Amino acid sequence: MAQNWNAQSWRGHEGRHLPVYPDAEKLNEVEQTLTSFPPLVFAGEARALKADLAQVAAGKGFLLQGGDCAESFAEFHPNNIRDTFRVLLQMAVVLTFASKQPVVKVGRMAGQFAKPRSSPVEKIGDVELPSYLGDNINGIDFTAESRIPDPVRMLRAYSQAAATLNLLRAFSTGGYANLRQVHQWTLDHIGKSPWAAKFGEMADKIGEALDFMEACGVDPQTVPQLKGTSFYTSHEALLLPYEEAMTRQDSLTGEWYDTSAHMLWIGDRTRFEGSAHVEYLRGVNNPIGMKCGPSLTPDALLKLLDTLNPAREAGRITLISRFGHDKVEAGLAPLVRAVKKEGHPVVWSCDPMHGNVIKADNGYKTRPFDRIMAEAKGFFAVHRAEGTHAGGIHIEMTGRDVTECTGGAVAITQEGLADRYHTHCDPRLNAAQSIELAFQLAELLNLERAERKAEAA
Ligand code: PEP
Ligand code: CO
Repeated sequence: MAQNWNAQSWRGHEGRHLPVYPDAEKLNEVEQTLTSFPPLVFAGEARALKADLAQVAAGKGFLLQGGDCAESFAEFHPNNIRDTFRVLLQMAVVLTFASKQPVVKVGRMAGQFAKPRSSPVEKIGDVELPSYLGDNINGIDFTAESRIPDPVRMLRAYSQAAATLNLLRAFSTGGYANLRQVHQWTLDHIGKSPWAAKFGEMADKIGEALDFMEACGVDPQTVPQLKGTSFYTSHEALLLPYEEAMTRQDSLTGEWYDTSAHMLWIGDRTRFEGSAHVEYLRGVNNPIGMKCGPSLTPDALLKLLDTLNPAREAGRITLISRFGHDKVEAGLAPLVRAVKKEGHPVVWSCDPMHGNVIKADNGYKTRPFDRIMAEAKGFFAVHRAEGTHAGGIHIEMTGRDVTECTGGAVAITQEGLADRYHTHCDPRLNAAQSIELAFQLAELLNLERAERKAEAA
């Protein structure tokens, strides 16, 4: 158990990107209420995810983590949850089928509300207001009133997270994720993409394999994995008063868990040594992610790993690199080398989104698909060169047919961004772009596998 830690000890550390609530009494009331609410996830589930991630750290699996940049109260709808879930399922099937490795599925869902912002203020014309910080903190409307941090929003976020998680559990175990349904997961609007046909072909092959296995007596009745799947949730543990209020002690082991999600991560802006966010997360036993960007030195990374995972438990830490397409090879290699030399067991995952944001000529914030792909390729190249496992991908995506990232096979142009640009924060890959990414990642995973086999021979 972590030394000198409790769920409030972060309060004695420097906390960046935390809101200042004008009504302290109301905040206190909300925190008390949340503390009395049921946990959203159980410690045993977080431990199961940790065991799955330990396999990935050992080179035997791949982590697929994805969802909205920011979930919102306005976009809360069962169809949106279903569509994002099924695109993640499709991506997982593509990756599993091609790489013959298990894929660990984690949604940026059911709690991904709070956002660190590059500027604390937003200016439109002559009017300057505090920035939007995520629906669990303030409102996106550009009015002074809407931008005031309101603690009651945390209760709404809790209830939305609970309902989302409930639906995700139903989808993953209630029959929808049965491999026999693989054809049905295709969304109508990806029909235009050449990758839809490729997915159809693969689904046919899976169907044939299932027919064959059924004839041999292996069917969803005998092998429950065919009937459903494990699906986990995650978000950035940014809003510490909320995370603190969701912290519970596991009755079986006496360990502390953040029960707001299975996995929590620390953002690139809050992972500095001694930060309140590092302090909070070092004491909860969930699997933890940490974003690694260009400002992180190998020494600082090793110190953080010693703080967050002193026992060097496999599956505890996932390092999510986010350098940008032109910086990943030079920036990531020294970190990978240092971690390998120290013998820290980590999952290396690639976030090809946050280092590749550009402003289109018409003012839209976007991410070109080519740059996203280039960062993923650079990530795989580093791991091939260092003899380590390219263990995962972390993406901002949605099952909706949005036009937020440019490029892809059904090319979205800069002019086209205005058509369906719905994100509450960063631009997301749409369904077709996500499937295309999965097919290309599968090829990269195959390359890694072929090289390993050749080395072993
Ligand atoms: C995010 O994942 O939404 C995010 C803010 O990323 P980063 O901390 O890497 O900038
Ligand atoms: Co983002």
